[in-house]
Amino acid sequence: MEKKWWKEAVVYQIYPRSFMDSNGDGIGDLQGIISRLDYLKELGVDVVWLSPVYQSPNDDNGYDISDYQAIMEEFGTMEDFDRMLQGMHERGIKLVMDLVVNHTSDEHPWFVESRSSKDNPYRDYYFWREGKDGKEPNNWASCFSGSAWKYDKTTDMYFLHLFSAKQPDLNWDNPRVRQDVFSMMNWWCEKGIDGFRMDVISMISKKPGLPDGQMFPGMVYANPGCINGPHVHEYLQEMNREVLSRYDLMTVGECAGVTIEEAKKYASADGKELNMVFQFEHVELDEGKFGKWTDRRVDLKELKQTMSKWQTQLEGRAWNSLFFGNHDQPRSLSRFGCDAPEYRVDCAKMLATCLHMMQGTPYIYQGEELGMTNCPFDSLDEVRDIESLNAFKELTGMGVITEADMMRYINLRGRDTSRTPMQWDGSRNAGFTAGTPWIKVNPNYTQINAEAEMADRDSVFHYYKKLISLRKREKVIVYGSYRLLEPDSESLYVYTRTLGDEKLLVICNFTENETAYEMPEEFAGGMVLIGNCRREGLEKEISLAPYEALVIKV
Ligand code: GLC
Ligand code: CA
Repeated sequence: MEKKWWKEAVVYQIYPRSFMDSNGDGIGDLQGIISRLDYLKELGVDVVWLSPVYQSPNDDNGYDISDYQAIMEEFGTMEDFDRMLQGMHERGIKLVMDLVVNHTSDEHPWFVESRSSKDNPYRDYYFWREGKDGKEPNNWASCFSGSAWKYDKTTDMYFLHLFSAKQPDLNWDNPRVRQDVFSMMNWWCEKGIDGFRMDVISMISKKPGLPDGQMFPGMVYANPGCINGPHVHEYLQEMNREVLSRYDLMTVGECAGVTIEEAKKYASADGKELNMVFQFEHVELDEGKFGKWTDRRVDLKELKQTMSKWQTQLEGRAWNSLFFGNHDQPRSLSRFGCDAPEYRVDCAKMLATCLHMMQGTPYIYQGEELGMTNCPFDSLDEVRDIESLNAFKELTGMGVITEADMMRYINLRGRDTSRTPMQWDGSRNAGFTAGTPWIKVNPNYTQINAEAEMADRDSVFHYYKKLISLRKREKVIVYGSYRLLEPDSESLYVYTRTLGDEKLLVICNFTENETAYEMPEEFAGGMVLIGNCRREGLEKEISLAPYEALVIKV
């Protein structure tokens, strides 16, 4: 397998609004990030993926961009950005920027022009359509509830927005749109950034004619089916020629709805498009009738099957991104494990082991390295996320979910569960801000915070540090091939990694029960590479403690 720096890297995701506030306005900012770069250096991560910091009216916390070449005022200035980038590079940390180009803000000058008249040169930068019988042009749903079309009286037409009405979709079939996006990307590359995480990039090519989606009973709007559209690979190959291939970048596509076959194109080992994709199958396993709005828990056997499919089928052909959480997902510990105080530390380490020993580039979402948990919201007033707020209104309004249930689901699965401020120390507001935070701070910060964990050798933080440094030392963790053992076990996730004559056995107990396991012969007499419980010697038959993780090397 070809060696690449981005295969050997560990990525840390910063959600800037909630990372560190430097000036007391309650909102994280670039100076705040600068003040915590030594923390990232100490943790040992190689790359930062920074969620959007561009100028934005913040309808969707920066994922609605009104100027791609300016910094959001609340976050600082371009000088702050340059200083931050320099500070990262001085510490050997690379910077991957969020690229949000499926849509812009409705306040972006392109859209302001576009909406102004039917013959404006920017008209065709977006999708404008006539209504049909006084209704929307087609039956597509927005990902944030309701129709994907908004009526605009200036020209008596509708425009398309697969996300909020303040996020109109760009028309990638227009070559001028592509050129403008590529030149903006080149501008950032010339500044010295090290890569892009591409927001919902699998949706940029819409089906010709924008045909109605299939309706099912009970649905008001249909799934637009805009994923992996007809020209998406052509456009990414063009982007690769015009931008990506000119620099030494790391690129990762956020590819909701990607299949193995599609991933092999997006992240093909021949380097024609992107380096890797985020696939979402493992975070969709616990969906229910109303999608993510449910209290269903993931089944371990299904999780193993799904992860293993991606591990084995991409090997040698594409490259995996490894993640259990991000700013759109609940806290991984609360979702896949157990955040009860007695198990929290062991379970967070176990989940980290399970993920970081796999083949692919691991992503740590801010606070995951502390074992942060879902934040409990007492009422809807405390919720900020547009997706949760819209879904609450829609689903309780239709009478299909009660308000109490919906609030419960928001606490389990809403995006704000993981967007609360980073917990730096035990002082007021977890040391995040001297003012009033823009969103609630998880009240458990007095127990769970970076300062306490850095001082405790047995903390989740120190365990992550060790996992990250192991990946640098042991090539088998990066390049070894993966094989699932014990597929039918309902308690244990066991797999091996093999590179030449080096072999790892990874054993993770996903339950709070002691669980017996008989090791394959070849691993008896191996050495413990890392684990979250103290072990004296290794018998062939072992009993795993609740949420124990153990990695054995021969
Ligand atoms: C991606 C982002 C999410 C955002 C959406 C629209 O899924 O991760 O936060 O709301 O795209 O840009
Ligand atoms: Ca601030």
